[in-house]
Amino acid sequence: MSAQIIDGKAIAKSIREELSVKVQALKAQKGIVPCLAVVLVGDDPASHIYVRNKERGCNDVGIKSKIIRMTSGATQQELADCVDSLANDSSVHGILVQLPLPKHLDPEPIIMSIPPNKDVDGLHVYNIGCLNTGRRGFVACTAKGTLNLIKRCGIKIEGKNAVVIGRSDLVGKPASALLLNENATVTICHSRTEDLADITKRADILVAAVGKAGMVTGDMIKSGAIVIDVGTTKKDDGKLYGDVEFESAKEVAGYLTPVPGGVGPMTIAMLLENTVEAGEIYG
Ligand code: GUN
Repeated sequence: MSAQIIDGKAIAKSIREELSVKVQALKAQKGIVPCLAVVLVGDDPASHIYVRNKERGCNDVGIKSKIIRMTSGATQQELADCVDSLANDSSVHGILVQLPLPKHLDPEPIIMSIPPNKDVDGLHVYNIGCLNTGRRGFVACTAKGTLNLIKRCGIKIEGKNAVVIGRSDLVGKPASALLLNENATVTICHSRTEDLADITKRADILVAAVGKAGMVTGDMIKSGAIVIDVGTTKKDDGKLYGDVEFESAKEVAGYLTPVPGGVGPMTIAMLLENTVEAGEIYG
């Protein structure tokens, strides 16, 4: 068996096309142009690339973007003031503070100071609470992108065994909550999990979100399962590798996302979707 490779790039492109139609309608009908503000502190090269891609995504669909770059010496107070002024700016619909922040800055109070209706990153505890109680709210973009890919494959989620490897606030926990809300039977595995392969081999839906290149091998996958690889590790050869060993996994899985070109483009598409929604609902 050879897995169907899920083309996240193509799916994200079609989502962006749908979003640009929505953006035009919002502008024509209500005179609102959705605006995303991204705050980037310091000079982490990967973060700079991610932010540039977000800016490009915004341009692509007609969302206004406002990138605020602060030096790595920025203080907690300066960052707090910056987020406050965006919170009070009625022309800004979405705020994202790029993580990780430099070590001397505490992300917690910063994220909590983003008004939940501008928290297009879905990281405020209000939105996390909404997700965990099945209420409407903004959902973290990578997790939302993961569910979207599973749904677009036409996979039945209800009643299935879904296994998520990784329990981060950014991906593992929200992805598990989304799958639970879709009535999957969800197991969350993490660094202390015993007999990981025993658990993953029972997964109809397997989400790997650890950040350890190639840790999920074909022999850990149930035949025909859908495997979503969220991991991205840059190795010394300069290439990106997922958490799933692609070559062995594709012989066993039914559906498999590649890295790059799987979940990555969906994360940005979901950020744009959340921002358009913020403009539509709260604009
Ligand atoms: N850094 C890597 N991914 C993300 C994300 O989804 N949101 C934020 N704020 N920072 C990130």
